[in-house]
Amino acid sequence: MSSLTGDQIRERAAALGDWFHNIDLNGVQTAPNHFLNDYPNVKWKMFQHAIPEDLTGKTVLDIGCNAGFYSIEMKRRGADRVLGIDFDERYLNQARFAAEVKGIDIEFRELSVYDVAQIGETFDVVLFMGVLYHLRHPLLALDLIHDHVAKDILIFQSMQRGSPEEAPVRADYDFFEQEHFEEPGYPKMHFIEHKYANDWTNWWAPNAACSAAMLRSAGFQILEHPEEEVFICRRGERPTPAGAVYPAKPKTNGTTNGGGHA
Ligand SMILES: C[S@@+](CC[C@H](N)C(=O)[O-])C[C@H]1O[C@@H](n2cnc3c(N)ncnc32)[C@H](O)[C@@H]1O
Repeated sequence: MSSLTGDQIRERAAALGDWFHNIDLNGVQTAPNHFLNDYPNVKWKMFQHAIPEDLTGKTVLDIGCNAGFYSIEMKRRGADRVLGIDFDERYLNQARFAAEVKGIDIEFRELSVYDVAQIGETFDVVLFMGVLYHLRHPLLALDLIHDHVAKDILIFQSMQRGSPEEAPVRADYDFFEQEHFEEPGYPKMHFIEHKYANDWTNWWAPNAACSAAMLRSAGFQILEHPEEEVFICRRGERPTPAGAVYPAKPKTNGTTNGGGHA
């Protein structure tokens, strides 16, 4: 636990810019006016029961960790090692400060989800929360996570829009069948060409069926769906051979092996 006074924490937190994560730093709230209220604590409360209480001996990768709220929660549950990655150094500095104030040992590294192959390690638990819809290439990211860093459990969350229903999807449809595309529960992802919520980094808004279908397609078996935007998955085999084509896998013997998939 840090010896900083409340005023010192407030001052240093403010100097780190606007926070997306509201974290309680010894009584100082980092984002007290968040538009989603006490976020992500309100979200966490909805699905924390679905995550093992004891993560002793486990390794965790938090992709798009932001200021580290979930990384801190994983460490609190006893995870041996937590690595948080984000491509925004500003958020990582907030995360480092939050962990310092809490006296928690977490490694934070600047890295894009597209470059997870560089980590060269697989993790028992991978969190991929609130990132998919910010990506121009969301399925690619899921494929890369599957191929390079997921060993067992994936905890996934996405903003979703459209129907919360999940219509059964058949293995195939005749070329002239089209009605299923109109069903609200058919997997659909809305493309955001400009901005959504005044944010140009929102590129996609899947419906729930699409989140689930993309996870399955990337090779993740859905174990639980404890909250409407959250899916707890287990890494399995990809149903089709298609997979990530970018980037090349980590160098072996001084060469890359091209853009194949596992
Ligand atoms: C909406 S926030 C979600 C933060 C946290 N995971 C959560 O669920 O509260 C999205 C985060 O993803 C990060 N991000 C967006 N694109 C990324 C990318 N290509 N690679 C790594 N992080 C990314 C952003 O910098 C931001 O911290």
